[in-house]
Amino acid sequence: MQVAVIGLGYVGLVLAVGLGGLGHQVLGVDADSSRIAVLARGEIPLHEPGLAEHLARHRDHLRFSERVDDRLAEAQVVFVAVGTPPGVTGDADLSAVFRVAEAVGARLRRGAVVVIKSTVPVGTGARVEAILRRVAGFSIPVVSNPEFLAEGSALADFQRPDRIILGGSDAGAMERVAGLFAGVGAPVLRMDRESAELSKYASNAMLAVRISFMNELSRLCEQVGADVTKVGESVGLDHRIGPAFLRAGAGFGGSCFPKDLSALEALGMRHGVRLGVVEAASLANVAQRRHLAQRVIDALGEGVRGARVALWGLAFKPGTDDLREASAGALLRDLIAAGAEVVGWDPVARPGDDPVFSGLSLAEGPLEAVDGADALVLVTEWDHFLTVDPEEVSRRMRGDLVFDGRNALKPDAWTGAGLRYRCVGRPALETE
Ligand SMILES: NC(=O)c1ccc[n+]([C@@H]2O[C@H](COP(=O)([O-])OP(=O)(O)OC[C@H]3O[C@@H](n4cnc5c(N)ncnc54)[C@H](O)[C@@H]3O)[C@@H](O)[C@H]2O)c1
Repeated sequence: MQVAVIGLGYVGLVLAVGLGGLGHQVLGVDADSSRIAVLARGEIPLHEPGLAEHLARHRDHLRFSERVDDRLAEAQVVFVAVGTPPGVTGDADLSAVFRVAEAVGARLRRGAVVVIKSTVPVGTGARVEAILRRVAGFSIPVVSNPEFLAEGSALADFQRPDRIILGGSDAGAMERVAGLFAGVGAPVLRMDRESAELSKYASNAMLAVRISFMNELSRLCEQVGADVTKVGESVGLDHRIGPAFLRAGAGFGGSCFPKDLSALEALGMRHGVRLGVVEAASLANVAQRRHLAQRVIDALGEGVRGARVALWGLAFKPGTDDLREASAGALLRDLIAAGAEVVGWDPVARPGDDPVFSGLSLAEGPLEAVDGADALVLVTEWDHFLTVDPEEVSRRMRGDLVFDGRNALKPDAWTGAGLRYRCVGRPALETE
């Protein structure tokens, strides 16, 4: 089938390359010309395992363009995968989605279908359909097909999703979109567009609530002497609950959870429904990050002014170069405010001139980051850190404080190297 994907970020590029791999002819459009230039060279502009190789294998199925032009008229299905960042009120900023609707409406032929992949509040599909009708002069059905991929495993998630959600009222349009994914073995759930739009927010909110709940419990564990990893394991073995997303740590980040929680809250408020659980998940996340920073600051005591703190990992989670809303940024801010000097290293994430990371010095590697450090904080549990020799870290550090913000290191190895090991919600493992 002839397909177009507008917006080639983490979602759109994986979708475009994935659809190319399924044998479709894909036109990928992104307004960022530097991104298109990278793609035109056969490279990919972001870190996503396996994506570059998949692009190379299916290159003849893909064309890229920095603007919506007349080639779009060939498309039978157009996916909208542009960003929907938080606006000033916390609501999703839909300006890019509406701009795309104006541009594609002017070029599509009768019979084409527009699919919204971006995460958008309930009612957005109806608004996009109205724009398309006004611009095109005829009706173009809009199907909601929210994306559930996770950065770091995005291509595998495209190829083996848990489910494919299709929301809309035009059965023919829904079948055409379902047909595009025929090569993907996943259950297809068909529903009204409003339910599909809400499903995405509901999923992210549920995952965030689980993390925040465990993070709150970790703070209680620290007070009562319990081990949050044992509590999480016990809870997760209940078949009604399951083990995923029950790990305490340094808080969640990324481009989705924080913004989707606030957009869901805003949607509730607009409709007179206060979503207190969702609100609490956001507040608990902010509190968890502050708590970790405060523990580092307290442990350094008076010496925090001028102390050197090393951050291991900057991306919001392993497997991605995405720094949006990463916990490392929040920690950095609090540590700098307390007077510390902060140096960090990440295998792929590069903050460049991102203002959130201003004040951070970048090290050449994980060991260089700890040279002369008074404290080390593991923020993102990349494998790279799990294999570093604690003895070598101990030799290079000036101080002896190690904060394992993800409960990912082996406590014995670190305490055995003479380091004071601190973690999240497991007081019995901590050493003085
Ligand atoms: N990143 C994820 O893990 C993830 C997962 C599921 C859903 N989503 C949702 O998918 C959407 C996209 O997320 P993302 O992480 O890929 O965003 P992103 O910021 O990585 O990519 C968005 C892309 O859209 C392009 N763009 C913006 N306006 C455009 C326009 N008018 N015309 C053409 N291109 C334009 C940008 O240049 C950018 O490359 C969001 O709504 C997000 O909430 C993201």
